[in-house]
Amino acid sequence: MRLDKLLANMGYGSRKEVKQLLKQKAVTVDGAYVKDAALHVDPEQQNVSVFGERVVYTEFVYFMMNKPPGVISATEDLRDETVIDLLEPLHQHFQPFPVGRLDKDTEGLLLLTNDGILAHNLLSPKKHVPKVYYAQIDGVVTEEDAEKFAHGVELDDGYITKPGKLVILKSAQQSEIELTIQEGKFHQVKRMFETVGKRVTYLKRLSMGNLKLDDNLALGEYRELTSEELESLQNNH
Ligand code: URA
Repeated sequence: MRLDKLLANMGYGSRKEVKQLLKQKAVTVDGAYVKDAALHVDPEQQNVSVFGERVVYTEFVYFMMNKPPGVISATEDLRDETVIDLLEPLHQHFQPFPVGRLDKDTEGLLLLTNDGILAHNLLSPKKHVPKVYYAQIDGVVTEEDAEKFAHGVELDDGYITKPGKLVILKSAQQSEIELTIQEGKFHQVKRMFETVGKRVTYLKRLSMGNLKLDDNLALGEYRELTSEELESLQNNH
């Protein structure tokens, strides 16, 4: 691959900006400064570095984000900030998109990738990838609710959900629960609670398949998946 193409693909700027980098002697190939944008390099065999940092060629990126409230799970929005706006430009360059949606006010685990096949596999209703949510509920959540969820409930549009596993962490006027569902219908958790006359006041996704939200990520922070995390997600379906 041409050196300027490699560097532009990896987010080091436009071809023109990459030429400037080469002019500035910022780029080395196997330790030697290179100025020739047209030089053909093999990033797997040769050590291409920019300002001393090796360029590792990748096509796909995988990030886990602790989505903050107030931000839309979409790639573009005319009014609101999106989860893509929270990524560094170098990461935006790979054109990742969120795998599934969390509501604007929902927090927690959001996977962002440009790997359409993985995204498709995780979202496919046939694959039954479980998602675990923590929620605070206005109203006393009871074992009766758990029983109903275990059988599937009928949402306001007539859709009958697959069985959901409801674990009651605190049953009081303000309850706390964990709910595992295998689907991702629009506002599903909130609508499931509506069927038992209760309102979700706080919602956070804790996991998706084998992928668990990293507790060290503050709201709005993200990091790349480790190779173990990626492998276990790929084996999820
Ligand atoms: N269920 C909801 O109601 N909202 C979300 O954001 C995710 C699941």
